[in-house]
Amino acid sequence: MDTVKVKDKLFGLYITEDKILSRVKELATKMNNDLAGKNPLFLVILNGSFVFAADLLRDITIPCEITFVRVASYEGDSSTGQIKHLLGLTQSIEGRTVVIVEDIVDSGFTMKELLHMLEDKNPAEVYISSLLVKPGNLKVDLDIPYRCFDIENEFIVGYGLDYDHEGRNLRHIYQVME
Ligand code: IMP
Ligand code: MG
Repeated sequence: MDTVKVKDKLFGLYITEDKILSRVKELATKMNNDLAGKNPLFLVILNGSFVFAADLLRDITIPCEITFVRVASYEGDSSTGQIKHLLGLTQSIEGRTVVIVEDIVDSGFTMKELLHMLEDKNPAEVYISSLLVKPGNLKVDLDIPYRCFDIENEFIVGYGLDYDHEGRNLRHIYQVME
């Protein structure tokens, strides 16, 4: 199916499941080589990363741990703006090699705040992995060594990513149509 409707918007096929899976395998191979002997802790950011994480982590063959967290935000008062906090991280990450598993880095603000929140917990090192990056939208300086696709600044849905809470279960990635 080359187009899908999610709520009020029409989306066109953008990256097929086959193409995603072959890039995810390549990324896993690179991680297996780079991170061998470090017993990394993969920090999967819910909800959007659940499909990517399930595919990526089944191709990770080195000893590792996997845990799931959520970055929640609420509106602060007008002086503080949006406050983000980390939910669900119950284990210590002190001295660990942490690998963040994210679905998409857009402006990068969410990732930057997440890095600050993790730094307070004294990990040995933190690497970012993201299925998708929109380099044209990045507003902050971020090193994203593990990424599958750099994409245009268009809104996309599927393979875990949602449009207004729907579309996460689509097998392929679709891009919004004009
Ligand atoms: P950032 O803080 O601007 O980098 O936003 C990152 C978050 O915005 C992601 O974790 C997604 O939840 C959401 N997001 C950004 N772009 C898209 C998109 O194209 N489709 C679906 N969600 C997106
Ligand atoms: Mg996300």
